[in-house]
Amino acid sequence: MQAHNENAAPGLKDALLRLKEEALSTLKSVNKKEELTLLKAKFLGKKGELKQVLSSLGRLPEDERVLVGKVANEVKDALSALFDEKERALELKDQSEKLKVSIDTSIPGRMHAFGSVHPLTSAAEVIVGVLERLGFMRATGPEIEHDFYNFEALNIPKTHPARDMQDTFYVAEDVVLRTHTSPVQIRAMLAKKEPPIRVLSFGRVYRRDEDITHSPMFTQVEGLYVDEHVSLADLKGTLLAFVTQVFSSDAKIRMRPSFFPFTEPSMEVDVSCFALGDHQDCRLCKGTGWIEILGAGMVDPEVLRACGYDSERFRGFAFGMGVERIAMLRYGVTDIRLFFENDLRFLRQF
Ligand code: DAH
Repeated sequence: MQAHNENAAPGLKDALLRLKEEALSTLKSVNKKEELTLLKAKFLGKKGELKQVLSSLGRLPEDERVLVGKVANEVKDALSALFDEKERALELKDQSEKLKVSIDTSIPGRMHAFGSVHPLTSAAEVIVGVLERLGFMRATGPEIEHDFYNFEALNIPKTHPARDMQDTFYVAEDVVLRTHTSPVQIRAMLAKKEPPIRVLSFGRVYRRDEDITHSPMFTQVEGLYVDEHVSLADLKGTLLAFVTQVFSSDAKIRMRPSFFPFTEPSMEVDVSCFALGDHQDCRLCKGTGWIEILGAGMVDPEVLRACGYDSERFRGFAFGMGVERIAMLRYGVTDIRLFFENDLRFLRQF
């Protein structure tokens, strides 16, 4: 018995080491997960070779059993680690092969949708840019405005028929949605006690009005210049410089008498038609050769006084225009509502 046992221990140890060697060399040539599973069962499974070797462990005496047992555990741990590692490697290989199949580099890239500047914004940038270069500084005021700034101080008293010129949204008895940017003139003058003052204002205004050329909300740009020797000639020169930069370098202007409560004299200003060709059937000027673009005038002394200015000493000119109208003329748009519908088929054209 003793002799048999003495030989058994080294024999088992060798068997274990051989098992390890064999597993190692077979593992190298494995390329598929299924093969790996079979191989794992063969070496490490419940009925695998390692188990078989271990089953004869019981026949060894106590001290040798411990020794061989230790070797057996080492072999088992080493093999388990190797199998796990191989499994991960195959997994990775699998994934990268799948990726290779799914990436088709010949497919055209996905285009990002490009935005563009809204036509009203670009028209406003042109208009405001020209006025800024002429020395007008930006001034602002609220869209919900007090009656005093929107009407009273602009020489439009409560009961005056001039109120009918602008169909107004009332928020409260003395509060309106501003009907024009002219209240910013009043705010600017009240804020700066002493002329010279040269401001522009740009923003939304509101009127109860809607058809293809009128929208209940639209945009205006306003200019105001007050100083000691401001004259109608200054207004004319400013507006001429304005139209030559906004419309065309050979544009001319025409002034027609008109009425605004806050200017005296008041005028409508036309620009010479910039459509090409014969103006006989022209859509823009309707055969007249002129297109109305803005209202203007010399600031009424009454307005200067309402702002605390000495109306004997100071004079001023002012003008105001609708940005939508200018944009419609510049871009050949015939329905004002297109600007506010946000239809991409329209907006993409600019
Ligand atoms: N506020 C006027 C309107 O909305 C436009 C206007 C006309 C503004 C003459 C002015 C001006 O500053 O002088 O109809």
